Amino acid sequence: MIKSTPHRSLFHILLPFFRSTIVIAFSLAKEVIVEIQSAGRGPPVNQSSRYRSHVTLYIENSDGTRTPSGWSTRESDGADRDAPFAFQPGVNLIEGWTEGVLKMREGERSWLHVPSDKGYGAQSMGSPNGGGFYIPSNSDLLFDIEILGVEGEYGKQDL
Ligand SMILES: *[C@@H]1O[C@H](CO)[C@@H](O)[C@H](O)[C@H]1NC(C)=O
Repeated sequence: MIKSTPHRSLFHILLPFFRSTIVIAFSLAKEVIVEIQSAGRGPPVNQSSRYRSHVTLYIENSDGTRTPSGWSTRESDGADRDAPFAFQPGVNLIEGWTEGVLKMREGERSWLHVPSDKGYGAQSMGSPNGGGFYIPSNSDLLFDIEILGVEGEYGKQDL
């Protein structure tokens, strides 16, 4: 004879759903999410090449809004002039940048949602005074990044 109370049965039925919800919430908080704005036709980004990119960095707020960090390579986002940024995945970059761009292709423009612990973590960056670059500690980051091409082949691209 099964003698469990209705409460207990309901709890046991729902437990797997609670568990999967917790796992999903945890991985959303920890993983870098790449949200494609415009697909790239080039080869996938890899760790052995150096790439030129356009980047605008925002702070991603918990309510889904974004705050400019004061850093952009794009004149249209406040830079003095367009000044592409060169990088090699895994070299002198925050973990979230490397993880995110390795899921992109040349020519692609995407939003990279980077949780704080794969960004600058508890460290603040820049200065809150003077209206320049500033990222408060424990900020989630949002990169609007476009992979222009491999460095050296930049002239063949569309810029
Ligand atoms: C990395 O990408 C570059 C540029 O597309 C390519 O020439 C190179 O063969 C790739 N290397 C590897 C290891 O996939």
